[in-house]
This record gives sequence, structure tokens and C-alpha cells, in this order.
Amino acid sequence: MNYKSVKGTADILPAPAGSIELRQAMESISQDVFQRFGYREVRTPIIEERSLFVKSIGEETDIVTKEMFSFKDRGEREIVLRPEGTAPIVRAYLEANLHKTDAFQKFYYIGPMFRAERPQAGRMRQFHQIGAEAIGSGLPEIDAEIIRLLAALLDAMKIRGYKIRINNLGCKDDKAGLSKTLRTILDKEKNALCDDCKKRLDKNPLRVLDCKNESCRTMVRSVFKSVKFLCENCEGHFKKVLACLDDLNIKYELDPFIVRGLDYYTQTVFEVTHPELGSQDALGAGGRYDNLISDMGGPELGAAGFALGVERILIVAAKQEAAAYPDDKKVIYIATMGEAAKKKGFGLLDSLRGGKWEKKMSFDMDYENKSLKAQMREADKLGAKLVLIIGDDEIAKGEVMLRDMMTKEQQSVKFDDVARTIKGKI
Ligand code: HAM
Repeated sequence: MNYKSVKGTADILPAPAGSIELRQAMESISQDVFQRFGYREVRTPIIEERSLFVKSIGEETDIVTKEMFSFKDRGEREIVLRPEGTAPIVRAYLEANLHKTDAFQKFYYIGPMFRAERPQAGRMRQFHQIGAEAIGSGLPEIDAEIIRLLAALLDAMKIRGYKIRINNLGCKDDKAGLSKTLRTILDKEKNALCDDCKKRLDKNPLRVLDCKNESCRTMVRSVFKSVKFLCENCEGHFKKVLACLDDLNIKYELDPFIVRGLDYYTQTVFEVTHPELGSQDALGAGGRYDNLISDMGGPELGAAGFALGVERILIVAAKQEAAAYPDDKKVIYIATMGEAAKKKGFGLLDSLRGGKWEKKMSFDMDYENKSLKAQMREADKLGAKLVLIIGDDEIAKGEVMLRDMMTKEQQSVKFDDVARTIKGKI
């Protein structure tokens, strides 16, 4: 074989080779949950202008400096494959002037994102996110709803054992004050920092707080203990968010070292981790971004959101009962013997496929003139509940032989009664 999928990308195949069924179940579960919470779907393009992410995620962030897939189009415009969903949703909201009809709107998205990271377990170059953005409100109840929604999604997907860790970065001024303080106190201990953090100290000192390097961690934990940087307003907001989460019975841990790798965050930030994930342990993350809309040329409006990583959920799901999300589709198989039966079966298949069904259905038959035994094997492989067998005898009588694959019982059913009989048995 001459061709392989590009490094860090993967085909998503049907079972048993792949797990498209699990992803489809995850998407359908998510759509139900989003609907309950009043979030509506938005699909933005995969490609965006590079400047959108430079402005929103931040010029000095890892994503912008080294992880974007970028190219120039024929008009010499700088285009990138979207590395995340928040900035595109805000762009779409402003471009369509949605804030003029109803400033507060809630959206969700499910789709591929692209980051040129070094691939490893749970880290892909094309990965998928399930995300939500509540745009147009600065109220603490929204932060709590966003976290509740994230937990509701994981619960509905039967993911157990995740941990929610929360922090508050404060408003723009608080963040600037904290950066300044960190620069001063960390500068004295510069030698204990890794090379990356030495650079960060200059450009983005907040990121030193979540460096994974052991010596940086130890040093930062010793000097950062007593730094107070939140203004009264932000402290009040955070208290209300936590009180709402308590009212909702959501378990969380406070973690002053969560700073996030995207610059648009203000106030509440959170990460959801899972011990089954190893070093890439974030199932999802998010927070409030109260300056992004105005920074992108829109009005002063608050917003909050999150994104879950689908591939990471699948890693955890594979180790838990979630790997068996119920597949509730009913499979019906038509087995035929001889040319005339095949022709009759072909017509019956089409009318069943076009019929009205309340349950999720799947109808199939063999086109390759296999033996009856081989067709029954195929029906079994597809998980058929019922098989409709048609031979010359059945055609002569205007009937099919309906076989229940569980009970092995068989009964003759008139052609016109087939759909009704199937409905009574599924
Ligand atoms: P993020 O933390 O960059 O946030 O990504 C969210 C989640 O996407 C991560 O927790 C992880 O599960 C998954 N993820 C990220 N990179 C990869 C990768 N290379 N391979 C596999 N999974 C990955 C955001 O993207 C923000 N837009 C979240 C947000 C929405 N904040 C507010 N609204």
C-alpha cells in the first residue's frame, strides 16, 4: 500500500476495525443533552483567517506560535485549519450581528480541530471537540450552568471518575497585576526555572504557574502561596459561581495553578481531568472570556464555554462500561433463494426502507447470490433481530418466512402484512 493517513490523523472506521458507532452514540447523546439545556448547534468552517486566532488565543501562546496548520491561499491570504472552536463561534456571532437581535445566545458545536502537536496517546493533529459557548452574559449563574452542562454530558456518556478543577484568573486588570507580581517574584528564582519558563517569564508569566516541569512546579508552589490578586468584583463573582455549583451538588476542587494555554480567558477557568488518561489528562476545559467579544470588535459582553476532547473521552470509555453505549437500532435482513426471490426481496427491501418507523431501523439483503447458510451467517454478523426468507414456495404463496433470530421461531407472513408484523415484534 502506497498511502497512509497523515501523521497525527486517523480514519474513523465502523466496528470492529474502528469505533464510529461509539462516536455516533456520543454525538446523539450530546445533542439530547444540549437540547435540554437550550443550546443550539452552530457549524463554522474548518478554515479561518490566521489573524482570528492570533488576536483571540494570543500571539505568544503555543497554539499560535507552533501548532497551527497554516497556508496562503491563491489570494495570498493567510489561512489556518481551526485549532479550536471558541474564536470561530464568536466571529460567526458578530458577523451575523446576532448580538443585535438577542445579545444572549447559547451555542454548541461538534467537529474536528487541528493542532500540529507531537502525536501521542490522547494527542492528535486532527482531533474532535464537543463544545458549548454561552455568549452575551457575565452572570455567575452562566459559569455554573456551563460546568453543569459539561458534567451532564460526561454523566450521560457514562464516564465515571472525572475531576473538575476550578480557578479564577480575575479580570484583565487582575491578570495584568498578577503577571507583574509573578515577574517580580519569579525573577529572583529564575535559575530554578526550565528554559521554556525563562522565556515565559518575559512574555506570559502566568503560564509558569501550570508548567509540568518538576523543578518549576516545586519552586512556583513555594513562592505563589500567599499571592492575593483578585479585585473585589472578581472575588464576589467567584464566590457566587462556587455557591451555585454547591447548590447544584457539583463536586469540584479549587486549583490556583490552572491558568489555561489560551489568552482570552478572564475570571473562571476550569479543567476536567481523568486518572485513566496519563500525561494528557484533560478530558475537557473551558472558562469565561469577558473581553473576547469586544477585542474582536463587538460590544462589551461577557461569555463562557468549554470543549471536551472526543478522543480522550473514548480512551476513558474504552476502559469503562461506557464502551457499550446501547445501540438500539433494529436490524432486519432479507435472505433470498433464486433470481425471482431476489427480485421480490429487492422490492420488499426498498419498501421497508421507505416505510414509517418509530424505532431506529436498518434493512439489508444479499445481492451476491450467496447460499442461504451464508446469508444467515451474514444476518447474524449484522445482529439481525428478524430475517425474512424468500424462496420459490414463498413467492407462489405471496408470503415470506419470518425467522426470529433469538427464539428461532418461524412463521409465514403475507407480503402485505410484513411491515405490520415486524412492528409487532421489535
Ligand atoms: P483546550 O483546552 O485547548 O480548550 O481544548 C479542550 C479539550 O480538547 C482538551 O481538554 C482536550 O480534551 C482536547 N484536545 C486539545 N488538544 C488536543 C489534541 N491535540 N488531541 C486530542 N485532544 C485535544 C479549547 O479548545 C477552548 N476553545 C475551550 C473553550 C471553549 N473555552 C471556552 N469555550
